[in-house]
Amino acid sequence: MTGSLLRDLDLDKPQILDLLALAAQLKRDKRGGAEIPRLVGKNIVLVFEKNSTRTRCAFEVAAHDQGAHATYLGPEGSHLGREESVADTARVLGRMYDGIAFRGYAQDTVRQFAAHAGIPVWNALTDAWHPTQSLADLLTMTEYHGGDVEDIAFCFTGDGHSNVARSLLVTGARLGMDVRIAAPTSRQPPPDVVAAAENAARSSGARLLITDDLRTAVRGADFVYTDVWVSMGEPDDAWAARIPSLSPYRVTDEVLDASNRSGVRFMHCLPAIHNRDTAIGARLHRQFGLDSAEVTEEVFESKRSIVFDQAENRMHTIKALLVRALAG
Ligand code: CP
Ligand code: NVA
Repeated sequence: MTGSLLRDLDLDKPQILDLLALAAQLKRDKRGGAEIPRLVGKNIVLVFEKNSTRTRCAFEVAAHDQGAHATYLGPEGSHLGREESVADTARVLGRMYDGIAFRGYAQDTVRQFAAHAGIPVWNALTDAWHPTQSLADLLTMTEYHGGDVEDIAFCFTGDGHSNVARSLLVTGARLGMDVRIAAPTSRQPPPDVVAAAENAARSSGARLLITDDLRTAVRGADFVYTDVWVSMGEPDDAWAARIPSLSPYRVTDEVLDASNRSGVRFMHCLPAIHNRDTAIGARLHRQFGLDSAEVTEEVFESKRSIVFDQAENRMHTIKALLVRALAG
């Protein structure tokens, strides 16, 4: 369906750049009090099997700003998966709404929604991809870098197998960027994702490096990015194996300094385990003696951290996606 976004690779380079330019325009318009509502009378529904703060709020505020209405169906709020199949739910929602944002586990579920709904479907995160996150991250990188997207180098360190790492890898490859993934071999992106990124890089001129050597990967990076070490839907006992294998990939001041870039910035999709102020953070301290997981408190709270710009940009980029898909 035109206007859908199921995986990052659904968008070609001109489409990504167009969405980023539109998001930047919508951001300026909102700040200047000059936003024009282009989605009056439209209705979107958010079908979320997993929790969310940023993505849910971004869709809801974006829709509201543009004059559209949003319905939220949370993990417990509908018949989906128990009394009603994905195909049936999709057909029902397709009769009432103009678009569906789906967050959940299997990529196949969002594919089924798109196959049956007859309206645009947006992947609001699955185990495999997080394409609205990478759009926000690209907007944030271009804002801070100021140059052409092809001149940007970023290094993802940590769980390179995560949905966020995969989305960044293929989006960076599509855009012709300098992309480095630093992760232990056990947590590097899956082979099919690497193959897709390499294929995209052949035509875009992207430089790709996937390695277990963080020091090499981070040298020359404008941005250093990480994600949680255990993602939503993974078993809690995964922490015991992830901590020893991913601790060398934690973002510290020393890792940022190793970029050798004075303007290096730290990025994270959030939520982040950077202190003991969460239930998980406290448990990791009790069980494993950690004060933080994927990033230190010092880096997270430093001037080099741009994580809340990324969070804000979730809304502007999702708004651009909605406007392109639904405005007349
Ligand atoms: N980054 C992100 O997707 O955050 P939420 O899980 O809060 O939506
Ligand atoms: N990899 C994380 C991203 C959260 C936005 C997860 O899936 O839980």
